[in-house]
Amino acid sequence: MPSDFIPVGAPVHRRILSRLETAMVARRNVLEIIPALSYRQPIVSGEMVMRWHMLADPAGMKRVMLDHHSNYPKSEVMKRMLRPAIGESLFNAEGPNWKWQRQAVAPVFTHRNVVALAPAMTATAERTCARLAKCTAQAELVTEMLTATFDVICDVALSGREHFDSETFGQAITEYFRTAGRASLLDFLAVPEWFPRPGRLLAARSVQVMHSMVAAAIEARRRDAHPPADDLLARMLAAQDPETGHRLSAEDLIFNMQFFIVAGHETTALALAWALYLLANVPVEQEQARQQARDQLQGRAAGPDDLIHMPLVRQILEEAMRLYPPVGLLARSVVEKDTLCGRTILPGEILFLPIWALHRHELLWEQPERFRPDRFGAGASAGINKYQYLPFGAGPRVCVAANFAMMQAQIILATVLQNFEFAPGAPSPHPIMMMTVRPEPGVFLQVSRAS
Ligand code: HEM
Repeated sequence: MPSDFIPVGAPVHRRILSRLETAMVARRNVLEIIPALSYRQPIVSGEMVMRWHMLADPAGMKRVMLDHHSNYPKSEVMKRMLRPAIGESLFNAEGPNWKWQRQAVAPVFTHRNVVALAPAMTATAERTCARLAKCTAQAELVTEMLTATFDVICDVALSGREHFDSETFGQAITEYFRTAGRASLLDFLAVPEWFPRPGRLLAARSVQVMHSMVAAAIEARRRDAHPPADDLLARMLAAQDPETGHRLSAEDLIFNMQFFIVAGHETTALALAWALYLLANVPVEQEQARQQARDQLQGRAAGPDDLIHMPLVRQILEEAMRLYPPVGLLARSVVEKDTLCGRTILPGEILFLPIWALHRHELLWEQPERFRPDRFGAGASAGINKYQYLPFGAGPRVCVAANFAMMQAQIILATVLQNFEFAPGAPSPHPIMMMTVRPEPGVFLQVSRAS
């Protein structure tokens, strides 16, 4: 019997907000700038300093992300927010500078290499269970999941974490998101970059903390007589542009590693925390998933070969990322005049891709506000257009580590579910997007040993 639980959504404004209102709202929660119409129309347009469009249509998404992607580079507003922390590293770079960095990094995430990384994922799942076993009342699951995924990314990026104190690094990330991560009024008003931004000054401190830890790890690697051959840092140190012979400068290296470490664990941890929030509210589905995990795992922690036998665990994560895509909104610039969903798009305008609204669109999803993992079941998922479900983006800029993230999330979720039961705690979470869609003030759940 389907439960009548309705997962928490974001506030929706029925009218188009004024320029000042938008800027204020965006500082609080980027999801609130998505107008109500975006949940039921393919495209919505408005004006705020510059003309903007919000596209939530599969064919339009395909054109922007794949067929005509060079006409839609990443937006300057977003790059400005990220530049102090990640410079012109892979995520922010464009053109040939992006291409060679992507080619250097992609081999780390081939299926074969990701499977080879799975023991680190299994080990982190076991440690997470050991931590949860000590918990006597309710636990805060965002912190738990961040600890779990941080361990894994340190292995992948640096083959270890001797130079990282996860607590200090974690606090710096949170501070960075809360300061620089807020879409600044000045950014929205297109005030030039040299103009001092108060948030950025505060953020500089957290960036410095993170960068100095990353720099220490890189320095230690350079001195290491027997360095690991195939982690991300080894690949980046060896990377060379085949056409120009260009190598990553010391600064580029820090920027790239910084991005990988932050993006590589924050997003996956959020997907897991949201999935647990959802499951805690639907005990019947939670028990079904637990039973499937138990039948397959028989008490041991999950590994890569188990995943195919636990489809419910994957479906739950997919549905959690539909309702709460960790990257809820992307923004692109426009190079040349184009037409999207019948609307003229001009150079200089800004194009928002509200993944959040696409995933909750009334024209695309049946009961979009409901948690229904069966949408992603073997038969049903065939009806989902590839461009109506985009937690990892699409086209050439698609997440380079999507398969790594999915494997890690499934291994952790299956292992944890096998051993523990989750019930709602207090306070309840609300989705707030700064750079990622975080549950605030956290995901508080009652955790008990599964009977
Ligand atoms: C559930 C987890 C994750 C989600 C939802 C996610 C989402 C995304 C999205 C939506 C993009 C495309 C952005 C755009 O088109 O503007 C992206 C790009 C990227 N992601 Fe992820 N990501 C996840 C995990 C990871 C992990 C684990 C890593 C690294 C270990 C990573 C590294 C990257 C990189 C480097 C890019 C830029 C690729 C490029 O521009 O060529 N992501 N991610």
